[in-house]
Amino acid sequence: MKYFVLGAIAAYGLGAVVLFSSASLGLLPVQADVAPSRLEAGLLGFALRASAARHAPKHDNPMTTSEENLIAGARIYRQMCSRCHGVSKESGSPYGDSFYPPAPHLPTSRTSYTDSEMFWVVKHGIRNTAMPAWGTLLSDDDIWQVVTLVRKFDSLPDSATLELMGHHH
Ligand code: HEC
Repeated sequence: MKYFVLGAIAAYGLGAVVLFSSASLGLLPVQADVAPSRLEAGLLGFALRASAARHAPKHDNPMTTSEENLIAGARIYRQMCSRCHGVSKESGSPYGDSFYPPAPHLPTSRTSYTDSEMFWVVKHGIRNTAMPAWGTLLSDDDIWQVVTLVRKFDSLPDSATLELMGHHH
């Protein structure tokens, strides 16, 4: 047991030294224009999902999927989110693609977060990525409305689609 513990400490210590040396020699990738490595994306994604699940509000989305809420969500999405996440199935987002990690194209990517987890992610942002924390700019109701919109991207009423495209009525 003693040797196992000592061995484990030595192994972790060696790992830390290798990591620190690689970092100080400039060997770790820091640029944004290469695809995330599987290990990096996997590890960070894993931590992020666990954290979102842990911190998300314990209740469901309080917004109904009424036309009114979807239009309000569409207005917020167009103004605050579309430039990174894309606005329709057909639209790409070269801007969103230029980040590391890239911004997922929400009209098609179908997030695997629950509404409550998405609420938490949008409110608090994702550290070390381009995803901002919206809690200072949007009220909780605003955030629930935009979450409702993202959830329903596949089956929006025309009125909400028009609002997404910036056609007011
Ligand atoms: C400046 C660019 C930018 C803006 C503006 C932005 N995001 Fe993001 N967002 C990102 C990036 C980059 C990621 C990916 C982060 C990652 O992979 O860890 C992300 C991730 C997300 C995710 C997680 C998706 C998933 O399934 O992994 C959600 C949900 C989200 N954003 C919603 C929004 C909403 C809603 C808005 C508007 C209120 C918004 N974002 C505005 C860049 C942006």
